[in-house]
Amino acid sequence: MTEPQTEIHKGLAGVVADYTAVSKVNPDTNSLLYRGYPVQELAANCSFEEVALLLWNGELPDEAELADFQALERAHRALSPELKAIIDALPTTCHPMDVCRTAASVLGAEDPEAEDPSPEAELRKAHMLFAAMPAVVCYDQRRRRGQDLVEPRDDLGYSANFLWMAFGEEADPAVVEAFNTSMVLYAEHSFNASTFTARVVTSTMSDLHSAVTAAIGALKGPLHGGANEAVMETFVELGIRADESHAEAEARAKAWMEEALAAKHKVMGFGHRVYKHGDSRVPTMKAALDRMIDHYGRPELLGLYDGLEKAMDEAKGIKPNLDYPAGPTYWLMGFDIPTFTPLFVAARITGWTAHIMEQAADNSLIRPLSEYNGPAERHLPGGRPVAQ
Ligand code: ACO
Repeated sequence: MTEPQTEIHKGLAGVVADYTAVSKVNPDTNSLLYRGYPVQELAANCSFEEVALLLWNGELPDEAELADFQALERAHRALSPELKAIIDALPTTCHPMDVCRTAASVLGAEDPEAEDPSPEAELRKAHMLFAAMPAVVCYDQRRRRGQDLVEPRDDLGYSANFLWMAFGEEADPAVVEAFNTSMVLYAEHSFNASTFTARVVTSTMSDLHSAVTAAIGALKGPLHGGANEAVMETFVELGIRADESHAEAEARAKAWMEEALAAKHKVMGFGHRVYKHGDSRVPTMKAALDRMIDHYGRPELLGLYDGLEKAMDEAKGIKPNLDYPAGPTYWLMGFDIPTFTPLFVAARITGWTAHIMEQAADNSLIRPLSEYNGPAERHLPGGRPVAQ
Protein backbone atom coordinates (compact mmCIF):
# COMPACT_ATOMS: atom_id res chain seq x y z
CA MET A 1 0.00 0.00 0.00
CA THR A 2 1.40 3.38 -0.99
CA GLU A 3 0.64 6.49 1.05
CA PRO A 4 -1.66 8.94 -0.77
CA GLN A 5 0.35 11.72 -2.42
CA THR A 6 -2.53 14.17 -2.53
CA GLU A 7 -5.33 15.26 -0.24
CA ILE A 8 -8.31 12.95 -0.76
CA HIS A 9 -11.81 14.43 -0.43
CA LYS A 10 -13.63 11.25 0.56
CA GLY A 11 -17.23 11.44 -0.65
CA LEU A 12 -16.23 14.72 -2.36
CA ALA A 13 -17.06 16.35 1.01
CA GLY A 14 -16.41 20.07 0.87
CA VAL A 15 -15.60 20.04 -2.86
CA VAL A 16 -17.26 22.77 -4.92
CA ALA A 17 -17.71 21.06 -8.29
CA ASP A 18 -19.43 23.79 -10.34
CA TYR A 19 -21.74 26.80 -10.28
CA THR A 20 -25.51 26.40 -10.17
CA ALA A 21 -28.28 28.98 -10.42
CA VAL A 22 -31.01 26.47 -9.57
CA SER A 23 -30.83 26.56 -5.77
CA LYS A 24 -28.67 27.71 -2.90
CA VAL A 25 -28.23 25.72 0.30
CA ASN A 26 -26.78 27.83 3.09
CA PRO A 27 -25.86 25.67 6.09
CA ASP A 28 -24.84 28.69 8.19
CA THR A 29 -28.28 30.26 8.03
CA ASN A 30 -30.14 26.94 7.57
CA SER A 31 -31.72 28.34 4.46
CA LEU A 32 -32.63 27.01 1.05
CA LEU A 33 -33.44 29.22 -1.92
CA TYR A 34 -34.95 28.01 -5.22
CA ARG A 35 -33.88 30.51 -7.88
CA GLY A 36 -33.58 33.05 -5.06
CA TYR A 37 -36.91 32.38 -3.30
CA PRO A 38 -36.92 30.88 0.23
CA VAL A 39 -38.42 27.40 -0.03
CA GLN A 40 -40.70 28.09 2.95
CA GLU A 41 -42.35 30.98 1.08
CA LEU A 42 -42.82 28.81 -1.98
CA ALA A 43 -44.28 25.95 0.06
CA ALA A 44 -46.76 28.29 1.74
CA ASN A 45 -47.87 30.16 -1.36
CA CYS A 46 -47.29 28.18 -4.54
CA SER A 47 -48.57 25.06 -6.19
CA PHE A 48 -46.00 22.41 -7.08
CA GLU A 49 -46.65 23.15 -10.76
CA GLU A 50 -45.59 26.79 -10.23
CA VAL A 51 -42.45 25.70 -8.38
CA ALA A 52 -41.59 23.24 -11.16
CA LEU A 53 -41.80 26.05 -13.72
CA LEU A 54 -39.67 28.26 -11.48
CA LEU A 55 -36.97 25.59 -11.27
CA TRP A 56 -36.96 24.95 -15.02
CA ASN A 57 -37.37 28.51 -16.28
CA GLY A 58 -35.75 30.59 -13.56
CA GLU A 59 -38.88 32.69 -12.94
CA LEU A 60 -42.34 32.00 -11.54
CA PRO A 61 -44.92 31.68 -14.31
CA ASP A 62 -47.53 34.33 -15.06
CA GLU A 63 -51.16 33.22 -15.25
CA ALA A 64 -51.06 32.36 -18.95
CA GLU A 65 -47.80 30.38 -18.66
CA LEU A 66 -49.19 28.44 -15.73
CA ALA A 67 -52.46 27.71 -17.54
CA ASP A 68 -50.59 26.49 -20.63
CA PHE A 69 -48.41 24.21 -18.56
CA GLN A 70 -51.34 22.87 -16.54
CA ALA A 71 -53.19 22.01 -19.75
CA LEU A 72 -50.13 20.19 -21.11
CA GLU A 73 -49.44 18.35 -17.86
CA ARG A 74 -53.08 17.26 -17.43
CA ALA A 75 -53.15 15.95 -21.00
CA HIS A 76 -50.14 13.69 -20.41
CA ARG A 77 -50.89 12.11 -17.04
CA ALA A 78 -52.21 8.75 -18.19
CA LEU A 79 -50.05 5.61 -18.37
CA SER A 80 -49.66 4.33 -21.92
CA PRO A 81 -50.91 0.73 -22.37
CA GLU A 82 -47.33 -0.26 -23.25
CA LEU A 83 -45.87 1.18 -20.04
CA LYS A 84 -48.68 -0.34 -17.99
CA ALA A 85 -47.90 -3.75 -19.53
CA ILE A 86 -44.20 -3.36 -18.67
CA ILE A 87 -45.03 -2.44 -15.08
CA ASP A 88 -47.39 -5.42 -14.90
CA ALA A 89 -44.52 -7.66 -16.02
CA LEU A 90 -42.35 -6.60 -13.06
CA PRO A 91 -42.65 -8.77 -9.95
CA THR A 92 -44.40 -7.18 -6.98
CA THR A 93 -41.50 -8.45 -4.89
CA CYS A 94 -39.20 -5.82 -6.42
CA HIS A 95 -38.83 -2.45 -4.74
CA PRO A 96 -41.14 0.28 -6.12
CA MET A 97 -38.01 2.32 -6.88
CA ASP A 98 -37.10 -0.39 -9.39
CA VAL A 99 -40.43 0.28 -11.08
CA CYS A 100 -39.76 4.05 -11.20
CA ARG A 101 -36.29 3.42 -12.60
CA THR A 102 -37.66 1.08 -15.27
CA ALA A 103 -40.49 3.49 -16.12
CA ALA A 104 -38.09 6.42 -16.58
CA SER A 105 -36.07 4.28 -18.94
CA VAL A 106 -39.15 3.13 -20.89
CA LEU A 107 -40.45 6.70 -21.17
CA GLY A 108 -37.12 7.58 -22.77
CA ALA A 109 -37.22 4.62 -25.14
CA GLU A 110 -40.76 5.63 -26.19
CA ASP A 111 -39.97 9.33 -26.64
CA PRO A 112 -39.41 10.28 -30.29
CA GLU A 113 -37.23 13.21 -29.16
CA ALA A 114 -35.17 11.13 -26.72
CA GLU A 115 -31.93 11.81 -28.60
CA ASP A 116 -32.70 15.48 -29.35
CA PRO A 117 -30.48 17.58 -27.05
CA SER A 118 -31.97 20.96 -28.03
CA PRO A 119 -33.13 23.06 -25.05
CA GLU A 120 -36.72 22.98 -26.36
CA ALA A 121 -36.76 19.17 -26.56
CA GLU A 122 -35.06 18.82 -23.15
CA LEU A 123 -37.70 21.04 -21.52
CA ARG A 124 -40.54 19.16 -23.19
CA LYS A 125 -39.10 15.83 -22.00
CA ALA A 126 -38.86 17.24 -18.45
CA HIS A 127 -42.54 18.26 -18.65
CA MET A 128 -43.53 14.80 -19.87
CA LEU A 129 -41.64 13.01 -17.09
CA PHE A 130 -43.20 15.34 -14.52
CA ALA A 131 -46.67 14.55 -15.91
CA ALA A 132 -46.17 10.79 -16.22
CA MET A 133 -44.37 9.76 -13.03
CA PRO A 134 -47.34 10.14 -10.60
CA ALA A 135 -49.35 7.54 -12.54
CA VAL A 136 -46.39 5.14 -12.38
CA VAL A 137 -46.05 5.56 -8.60
CA CYS A 138 -49.77 5.31 -7.91
CA TYR A 139 -50.46 2.39 -10.22
CA ASP A 140 -47.52 0.44 -8.80
CA GLN A 141 -48.82 0.87 -5.26
CA ARG A 142 -52.32 -0.15 -6.35
CA ARG A 143 -51.28 -3.27 -8.23
CA ARG A 144 -49.31 -4.45 -5.17
CA ARG A 145 -52.52 -4.07 -3.18
CA GLY A 146 -54.48 -6.03 -5.79
CA GLN A 147 -56.33 -2.86 -6.85
CA ASP A 148 -57.12 -1.62 -10.37
CA LEU A 149 -55.58 1.39 -12.04
CA VAL A 150 -57.33 4.70 -11.29
CA GLU A 151 -57.33 6.93 -14.35
CA PRO A 152 -56.17 10.56 -13.85
CA ARG A 153 -58.67 13.41 -13.57
CA ASP A 154 -58.01 16.54 -15.59
CA ASP A 155 -60.20 18.68 -13.31
CA LEU A 156 -57.72 18.30 -10.43
CA GLY A 157 -54.36 19.96 -9.81
CA TYR A 158 -51.15 17.92 -9.62
CA SER A 159 -51.30 17.07 -5.91
CA ALA A 160 -55.06 16.42 -5.75
CA ASN A 161 -54.84 14.20 -8.81
CA PHE A 162 -51.84 12.36 -7.35
CA LEU A 163 -53.85 11.45 -4.24
CA TRP A 164 -56.86 10.60 -6.40
CA MET A 165 -54.84 8.16 -8.52
CA ALA A 166 -53.27 6.62 -5.41
CA PHE A 167 -56.45 6.05 -3.41
CA GLY A 168 -59.36 6.35 -5.83
CA GLU A 169 -61.09 9.02 -3.78
CA GLU A 170 -60.84 12.78 -3.59
CA ALA A 171 -58.51 13.87 -0.81
CA ASP A 172 -59.43 16.47 1.79
CA PRO A 173 -58.00 19.91 0.89
CA ALA A 174 -55.84 19.83 4.03
CA VAL A 175 -54.22 16.60 2.83
CA VAL A 176 -53.71 18.02 -0.66
CA GLU A 177 -52.01 21.05 0.88
CA ALA A 178 -49.66 18.92 3.00
CA PHE A 179 -48.82 16.75 0.00
CA ASN A 180 -48.12 19.85 -2.10
CA THR A 181 -45.80 21.10 0.67
CA SER A 182 -43.86 17.84 0.64
CA MET A 183 -43.47 17.97 -3.14
CA VAL A 184 -42.18 21.55 -3.01
CA LEU A 185 -39.71 20.72 -0.23
CA TYR A 186 -38.45 17.58 -1.98
CA ALA A 187 -38.14 19.27 -5.39
CA GLU A 188 -34.57 20.51 -5.30
CA HIS A 189 -31.43 20.57 -3.16
CA SER A 190 -28.36 21.59 -5.20
CA PHE A 191 -25.59 18.99 -5.73
CA ASN A 192 -27.03 16.14 -3.65
CA ALA A 193 -25.98 12.60 -4.63
CA SER A 194 -28.79 11.89 -7.11
CA THR A 195 -28.62 15.32 -8.77
CA PHE A 196 -24.86 15.04 -9.08
CA THR A 197 -25.38 11.59 -10.61
CA ALA A 198 -27.74 13.13 -13.18
CA ARG A 199 -25.15 15.82 -13.94
CA VAL A 200 -22.36 13.25 -14.34
CA VAL A 201 -24.45 11.30 -16.87
CA THR A 202 -25.40 14.50 -18.71
CA SER A 203 -21.75 15.57 -18.82
CA THR A 204 -21.01 12.60 -21.10
CA MET A 205 -23.64 14.05 -23.50
CA SER A 206 -25.94 11.12 -22.79
CA ASP A 207 -29.70 11.70 -22.96
CA LEU A 208 -32.04 13.19 -20.35
CA HIS A 209 -33.87 9.96 -19.57
CA SER A 210 -30.59 8.11 -18.96
CA ALA A 211 -29.59 10.83 -16.51
CA VAL A 212 -32.94 10.64 -14.67
CA THR A 213 -32.82 6.83 -14.61
CA ALA A 214 -29.35 6.95 -13.03
CA ALA A 215 -30.52 9.57 -10.54
CA ILE A 216 -33.39 7.34 -9.45
CA GLY A 217 -30.85 4.60 -8.74
CA ALA A 218 -28.84 6.99 -6.56
CA LEU A 219 -31.92 8.23 -4.71
CA LYS A 220 -32.95 4.69 -3.78
CA GLY A 221 -30.14 4.32 -1.25
CA PRO A 222 -31.01 4.68 2.44
CA LEU A 223 -28.32 7.32 2.94
CA HIS A 224 -30.29 9.50 0.49
CA GLY A 225 -33.98 9.23 -0.46
CA GLY A 226 -34.53 5.80 0.99
CA ALA A 227 -34.27 7.31 4.48
CA ASN A 228 -37.94 8.41 4.50
CA GLU A 229 -38.97 4.75 4.36
CA ALA A 230 -36.45 3.76 7.02
CA VAL A 231 -37.80 6.46 9.36
CA MET A 232 -41.28 4.98 9.22
CA GLU A 233 -39.92 1.48 9.68
CA THR A 234 -38.35 2.73 12.92
CA PHE A 235 -41.72 4.04 14.10
CA VAL A 236 -43.38 0.74 13.17
CA GLU A 237 -40.63 -1.23 14.92
CA LEU A 238 -41.17 0.88 18.03
CA GLY A 239 -44.92 0.28 17.81
CA ILE A 240 -47.42 3.13 17.44
CA ARG A 241 -49.63 2.78 20.52
CA ALA A 242 -52.79 4.81 20.89
CA ASP A 243 -53.11 3.78 24.55
CA GLU A 244 -49.93 5.36 25.94
CA SER A 245 -49.17 8.91 27.01
CA HIS A 246 -46.82 11.27 25.20
CA ALA A 247 -44.29 10.84 28.04
CA GLU A 248 -44.44 7.04 27.87
CA ALA A 249 -43.93 7.04 24.10
CA GLU A 250 -41.08 9.52 24.46
CA ALA A 251 -39.37 7.32 27.06
CA ARG A 252 -39.64 4.22 24.84
CA ALA A 253 -38.26 6.15 21.87
CA LYS A 254 -35.40 7.50 23.98
CA ALA A 255 -34.45 4.00 25.15
CA TRP A 256 -34.57 2.72 21.55
CA MET A 257 -32.32 5.55 20.36
CA GLU A 258 -29.80 5.02 23.17
CA GLU A 259 -29.59 1.34 22.27
CA ALA A 260 -29.23 2.09 18.53
CA LEU A 261 -26.46 4.62 19.14
CA ALA A 262 -24.67 2.35 21.61
CA ALA A 263 -24.67 -0.30 18.88
CA LYS A 264 -23.18 2.36 16.53
CA HIS A 265 -26.16 2.22 14.16
CA LYS A 266 -26.87 5.04 11.75
CA VAL A 267 -30.39 6.21 12.56
CA MET A 268 -32.18 7.17 9.37
CA GLY A 269 -33.80 10.57 9.13
CA PHE A 270 -31.02 12.25 11.12
CA GLY A 271 -27.93 14.10 9.96
CA HIS A 272 -26.98 15.77 6.72
CA ARG A 273 -23.81 16.20 4.72
CA VAL A 274 -24.32 19.94 4.33
CA TYR A 275 -26.56 21.10 7.20
CA LYS A 276 -24.88 20.62 10.55
CA HIS A 277 -27.28 22.74 12.65
CA GLY A 278 -30.59 21.51 11.23
CA ASP A 279 -32.20 21.01 7.84
CA SER A 280 -33.90 24.18 6.56
CA ARG A 281 -36.87 22.17 5.27
CA VAL A 282 -37.74 20.41 8.51
CA PRO A 283 -39.80 23.14 10.28
CA THR A 284 -42.14 23.50 7.27
CA MET A 285 -42.53 19.73 6.86
CA LYS A 286 -42.99 19.25 10.61
CA ALA A 287 -45.81 21.83 10.56
CA ALA A 288 -47.43 19.82 7.74
CA LEU A 289 -46.99 16.62 9.78
CA ASP A 290 -48.62 18.31 12.80
CA ARG A 291 -51.60 19.28 10.64
CA MET A 292 -51.89 15.70 9.39
CA ILE A 293 -51.65 14.32 12.94
CA ASP A 294 -54.59 16.58 13.87
CA HIS A 295 -56.46 15.75 10.68
CA TYR A 296 -56.19 11.98 11.14
CA GLY A 297 -56.42 12.11 14.96
CA ARG A 298 -53.15 10.25 15.58
CA PRO A 299 -51.44 12.23 18.41
CA GLU A 300 -49.65 9.08 19.60
CA LEU A 301 -47.09 9.58 16.82
CA LEU A 302 -45.81 12.73 18.48
CA GLY A 303 -44.38 11.04 21.56
CA LEU A 304 -42.22 8.78 19.41
CA TYR A 305 -41.27 11.67 17.10
CA ASP A 306 -40.24 13.95 19.97
CA GLY A 307 -38.53 11.15 21.87
CA LEU A 308 -36.25 10.11 19.03
CA GLU A 309 -35.44 13.71 18.12
CA LYS A 310 -34.60 14.72 21.70
CA ALA A 311 -32.55 11.60 22.40
CA MET A 312 -30.48 12.06 19.22
CA ASP A 313 -29.93 15.74 20.03
CA GLU A 314 -28.86 14.98 23.61
CA ALA A 315 -26.56 12.11 22.61
CA LYS A 316 -24.92 13.47 19.46
CA GLY A 317 -26.32 16.94 18.72
CA ILE A 318 -27.51 15.61 15.33
CA LYS A 319 -30.74 17.13 13.98
CA PRO A 320 -33.48 15.56 11.85
CA ASN A 321 -33.45 15.93 8.08
CA LEU A 322 -36.47 16.32 5.76
CA ASP A 323 -37.08 12.57 5.63
CA TYR A 324 -37.84 12.52 9.35
CA PRO A 325 -41.16 14.43 9.25
CA ALA A 326 -41.93 13.38 5.65
CA GLY A 327 -42.02 9.63 6.39
CA PRO A 328 -44.81 9.72 9.00
CA THR A 329 -46.71 12.33 6.96
CA TYR A 330 -46.91 9.97 3.96
CA TRP A 331 -47.83 7.09 6.26
CA LEU A 332 -50.73 9.07 7.73
CA MET A 333 -51.95 9.86 4.21
CA GLY A 334 -52.15 6.13 3.57
CA PHE A 335 -49.15 5.47 1.34
CA ASP A 336 -47.36 2.15 1.75
CA ILE A 337 -43.88 2.62 3.21
CA PRO A 338 -42.00 1.40 0.07
CA THR A 339 -43.87 4.05 -1.94
CA PHE A 340 -42.30 6.91 0.03
CA THR A 341 -39.09 7.16 -2.00
CA PRO A 342 -41.01 7.03 -5.31
CA LEU A 343 -42.94 10.09 -4.04
CA PHE A 344 -39.56 11.77 -3.62
CA VAL A 345 -38.76 10.78 -7.24
CA ALA A 346 -41.93 12.44 -8.52
CA ALA A 347 -40.90 15.65 -6.74
CA ARG A 348 -37.18 15.59 -7.55
CA ILE A 349 -37.73 15.08 -11.29
CA THR A 350 -38.06 18.87 -11.35
CA GLY A 351 -34.69 19.54 -9.72
CA TRP A 352 -32.91 16.77 -11.63
CA THR A 353 -34.12 17.99 -15.00
CA ALA A 354 -33.36 21.64 -14.16
CA HIS A 355 -29.79 20.57 -13.35
CA ILE A 356 -29.55 18.38 -16.45
CA MET A 357 -30.45 21.39 -18.60
CA GLU A 358 -28.03 23.62 -16.69
CA GLN A 359 -25.21 21.08 -17.07
CA ALA A 360 -25.89 20.62 -20.79
CA ALA A 361 -25.92 24.37 -21.40
CA ASP A 362 -22.36 24.80 -20.14
CA ASN A 363 -20.91 21.33 -20.21
CA SER A 364 -17.59 19.91 -19.19
CA LEU A 365 -17.12 16.15 -18.78
CA ILE A 366 -17.16 15.30 -15.07
CA ARG A 367 -14.18 13.08 -14.52
CA PRO A 368 -12.32 13.38 -11.21
CA LEU A 369 -8.93 11.84 -10.50
CA SER A 370 -8.07 9.08 -8.07
CA GLU A 371 -4.95 8.26 -6.11
CA TYR A 372 -3.88 4.67 -6.88
CA ASN A 373 -3.22 2.57 -3.78
CA GLY A 374 -3.15 -0.95 -5.28
CA PRO A 375 -0.13 -3.20 -5.89
CA ALA A 376 2.98 -1.70 -7.51
CA GLU A 377 3.53 -2.52 -11.18
CA ARG A 378 4.13 -6.28 -11.69
CA HIS A 379 4.26 -8.68 -14.63
CA LEU A 380 2.88 -12.08 -15.57
CA PRO A 381 5.44 -14.91 -15.28
CA GLY A 382 7.18 -15.56 -18.60
CA GLY A 383 5.82 -18.49 -20.57
CA ARG A 384 2.40 -18.34 -18.83
CA PRO A 385 -0.08 -20.22 -21.09
CA VAL A 386 -3.15 -18.31 -22.37
CA ALA A 387 -6.18 -19.26 -20.24
CA GLN A 388 -8.86 -21.12 -22.27
N1 ACO B 1 -27.22 8.33 13.11
C1 ACO B 1 -26.17 8.12 13.93
N2 ACO B 1 -24.99 8.76 13.82
C2 ACO B 1 -24.89 9.63 12.79
C3 ACO B 1 -25.92 9.90 11.90
C4 ACO B 1 -27.12 9.21 12.09
N3 ACO B 1 -28.16 9.40 11.27
N4 ACO B 1 -25.52 10.81 11.00
C5 ACO B 1 -24.26 11.11 11.30
N5 ACO B 1 -23.88 10.41 12.40
C6 ACO B 1 -22.58 10.44 13.05
C7 ACO B 1 -21.61 9.46 12.41
O1 ACO B 1 -21.71 8.18 12.99
C8 ACO B 1 -20.30 10.13 12.66
O2 ACO B 1 -19.96 9.92 13.99
P1 ACO B 1 -18.44 9.67 14.42
O3 ACO B 1 -17.71 10.93 14.02
O4 ACO B 1 -18.53 9.44 15.88
O5 ACO B 1 -17.99 8.48 13.63
C9 ACO B 1 -20.62 11.61 12.49
O6 ACO B 1 -22.00 11.74 12.83
C10 ACO B 1 -20.41 12.11 11.06
O7 ACO B 1 -21.17 11.27 10.22
P2 ACO B 1 -20.91 11.07 8.68
O8 ACO B 1 -21.69 9.91 8.19
O9 ACO B 1 -19.43 11.08 8.40
O10 ACO B 1 -21.48 12.41 8.10
P3 ACO B 1 -21.85 12.65 6.64
O11 ACO B 1 -21.86 14.11 6.44
O12 ACO B 1 -21.04 11.84 5.71
O13 ACO B 1 -23.33 12.02 6.63
C11 ACO B 1 -25.45 11.40 6.15
C12 ACO B 1 -24.45 12.54 6.16
C13 ACO B 1 -24.97 10.32 5.18
C14 ACO B 1 -26.79 11.96 5.68
C15 ACO B 1 -25.58 10.80 7.56
O14 ACO B 1 -25.98 11.80 8.48
C16 ACO B 1 -26.53 9.64 7.61
O15 ACO B 1 -26.16 8.51 7.28
N6 ACO B 1 -27.82 9.89 8.00
C17 ACO B 1 -28.84 8.86 7.95
C18 ACO B 1 -29.41 8.72 6.55
C19 ACO B 1 -30.38 9.81 6.20
O16 ACO B 1 -31.21 10.20 6.99
N7 ACO B 1 -30.27 10.28 4.96
C20 ACO B 1 -31.15 11.32 4.43
C21 ACO B 1 -30.35 12.49 3.98
S1 ACO B 1 -31.36 13.90 3.64
C22 ACO B 1 -32.22 13.54 2.21
O17 ACO B 1 -31.85 12.71 1.40
C23 ACO B 1 -33.53 14.28 2.06
